[in-house]
Amino acid sequence: MLRRTLIAAAEQDRIRAAVQAVPATRAVVARFVAGETTAEAVAAGTALAAAGLRVTFNQLGEYVTDPGQAAQTRDSFVALARRLADSELAGPGSELSVKLSALGQLDGADGAARALDHARLICAAADDAGVLVTVDMEDHTTTDSTLDITRALRRDFPWVGVAVQAALRRSPADCADLAYAGSRVRLVKGAYREPASVALHRRTDVDLAYVRCLRILLAGAGHPLVATHDPRLIEIAGELARRTGRGVDGFEYQMLRGVRDGEQRRLAADGFGVRVYLPFGPQWYGYFTRRLAERPANTLFLLRALASR
Ligand code: FDA
Repeated sequence: MLRRTLIAAAEQDRIRAAVQAVPATRAVVARFVAGETTAEAVAAGTALAAAGLRVTFNQLGEYVTDPGQAAQTRDSFVALARRLADSELAGPGSELSVKLSALGQLDGADGAARALDHARLICAAADDAGVLVTVDMEDHTTTDSTLDITRALRRDFPWVGVAVQAALRRSPADCADLAYAGSRVRLVKGAYREPASVALHRRTDVDLAYVRCLRILLAGAGHPLVATHDPRLIEIAGELARRTGRGVDGFEYQMLRGVRDGEQRRLAADGFGVRVYLPFGPQWYGYFTRRLAERPANTLFLLRALASR
């Protein structure tokens, strides 16, 4: 595991350097990633807020097994929260999206406990700034631990949200558990390649599961965060929310930076809450390749940019 991580890290550094060297490919990364520094992320967030959109900042990085690096990620999030506190982005229009594996969750037997300690400090800084925190969901081997840690965080910070992946067979049950008053659940399709024993693979099955989870969340007492770019699911969510008597304040749409930007603005102009996921930081490779994998056209776009050097 560690060996694989180290090799991957070395590969990432090489690929990152190659992509950075070519302005055209740098631009492809910039479509999805706000920049490498906190200042760039805050500038991008400020522009989104000016356009009437909410923001969730994600300091990129994952599967960290070096305690020093995990502490560094925690410190970056804390510094970001303090910076937001002193800016026009203070308040619940801003959110931090945290990957627990970036806080060392998978680093040995006490990794989860240390990730919880780090996440607590991030939540405390977010609390001071009035900004929210949502815990990202990673591959299925981490689901139980991530839900446990979120539950522990919510004892002190009841506004902490968590992502649920519709593709996982367990998710309708998780949604039912999480649909209580005050909870914030971000429903996503799921970005990880998972075994068929735990996850649905056919797109239509995942879409149906998404609607099933959506129904559970919208019928519950929590605050659903509808994170998808899928036009049909966006429409279904709006219709179900209307039928369950939720106003536009009773749920929120969420989308990724660089994906369907026009739709983000259209929904916001129609009065819906729309939050844009804004990833930033030097460790953008894993996130970026997932966005490419989701859509072959993105890979073609990158290859064309590389060919044009
Ligand atoms: P789908 O992939 O079917 O896309 C629907 C349409 O959206 C496409 O036809 C296309 O038009 C557009 N689109 C989607 N992706 C695109 C791309 N990369 N480039 C260009 N166009 C694209 N996953 C996870 O496992 N854990 C998590 O914590 C999160 N967190 C998260 C937060 C937020 C705010 C969002 C929006 C998504 C996530 N995800 C996630 C990712 C999620 O699981 C999923 O992989 C993507 O959102 C893509 O799925 P869609 O629901 O958009 O549908």
